[in-house]
Amino acid sequence: MNFHVLTLFPEAFEGPVRHSMLGRAIQRGLISVKITDIRSYTHDAHGTADDYQFGGGPGMVLKPEPVFDAVEDTLAPYSPEARAAMPIVLLSPQGRKLDQQLVLELADAPGIALICGHYAGVDERVRTCLATHDISIGDYVLTGGELAAMVVIDAVSRFVPDVVGSADNVQEDSITSGFLQHPLYTRPAEFRGMAVPEILRSGHHGEIDRWRRRESLRRTLKLRPDLLETAELSTADRQYLAELGYDPSIIDLPTTDCESAG
Ligand code: ADE
Repeated sequence: MNFHVLTLFPEAFEGPVRHSMLGRAIQRGLISVKITDIRSYTHDAHGTADDYQFGGGPGMVLKPEPVFDAVEDTLAPYSPEARAAMPIVLLSPQGRKLDQQLVLELADAPGIALICGHYAGVDERVRTCLATHDISIGDYVLTGGELAAMVVIDAVSRFVPDVVGSADNVQEDSITSGFLQHPLYTRPAEFRGMAVPEILRSGHHGEIDRWRRRESLRRTLKLRPDLLETAELSTADRQYLAELGYDPSIIDLPTTDCESAG
């Protein structure tokens, strides 16, 4: 998977994508992250990438010419078929909100171009005539699209084969599975008076699976009941959810020891 980032701040990417799992994925040739400085596609001596907005108003707007030129140059080495399959993503707070479904769609592509917006915004012609996707990472406004591009790179890379240990890991993820993850524990079995649930130490794998499924359902119902509307639920799942109330507005879920402690 080739990520092509178009940005006014190439230095912003030097650290984050070079470490940990992404760093190893780059070293192993599983992904590549190529950074293009939009400013190098400006045509005046000052490298002017922004301009005042037509109609007046505060804030500068990222000009269309350097962005179109930078994207076209970046995609030029690809075959027409590969180019047609490649998402050209504009990162902006106006876009479709990123979720795991969208991440999976993006992960199918041979590569992704990520345009990081800046200033008050980007000339609308970039959105309507160049970008194939307009993506927001949440309902808040960042100073630019760089952090959002990193989020997309990180989330999509996890679905590139071999980036994360085993393919099963990502399929069983929180959210990908349709539920939030069950609680995880490691040693020590008791820490500052807080014990790991006995069941997890019992060695009864069937019972452990059942406990995990129930905890996952309980947590999803409590924190993200919207996910249950589309999740695949077995009869046993439905029965358990019914025991818990199912209508999140009226149920009072039992809390864990820690939650009740404060
Ligand atoms: N640029 C500024 N805010 C953003 C957001 N929430 N998502 C994506 N890009 C952005």
